[in-house]
Amino acid sequence: MVNKRMVEIVTHSFEETEEIGRRIGKNLIPPCLVIIDGDLGAGKTCLVRGIVDVLGAGTNVTSPTFSLVCKYNCGWLDVYHFDMYRVKGLRDLESTGFFDYLEERAIFLVEWGTNVEEFLPKGGIKIWIDRIGEDERVITFDSDDILS
Ligand SMILES: Nc1ncnc2c1ncn2[C@@H]1O[C@H](COP(=O)(O)OP(=O)(O)O)[C@@H](O)[C@H]1O
Ligand SMILES: [Mg+2]
Repeated sequence: MVNKRMVEIVTHSFEETEEIGRRIGKNLIPPCLVIIDGDLGAGKTCLVRGIVDVLGAGTNVTSPTFSLVCKYNCGWLDVYHFDMYRVKGLRDLESTGFFDYLEERAIFLVEWGTNVEEFLPKGGIKIWIDRIGEDERVITFDSDDILS
């Protein structure tokens, strides 16, 4: 078993979190699943904005809390952005179309992944965001090889 190295980064503004997203996005090769967890307002969507931006689809990213999924076309690849906040259980997850999208060679960014973690494919990248102050966030990765 390979021992992955955990990494923690503290950001002090949403811009810094977006920038971490850009550094991660550069290293994502499809197909790839990224689970992003943290409380409401932690900065999950902010991180997604950076990832989507560096992949070439710009910064017009909002949380798909009601639509459940947004698709961004980034030229040679597609990014699917899920928000599982309201998704509970396998039936709910199936109804989002998640497993159909998963057939594609795309990048899957999943907010609130822990809600449905037992049903998600194994081997995804996991990121946690903790709010430690008004503008301070700790971003934790389960592996350091996704950050350039
Ligand atoms: N360091 C930071 N990183 C990310 N967001 C921050 C930070 N400091 C303040 N914020 C604010 O926190 C909020 C994060 O919102 P959002 O990314 O939508 O959270 P989530 O998707 O986790 O609910 C935004 O209003 C953002 O401006
Ligand atoms: Mg969000």
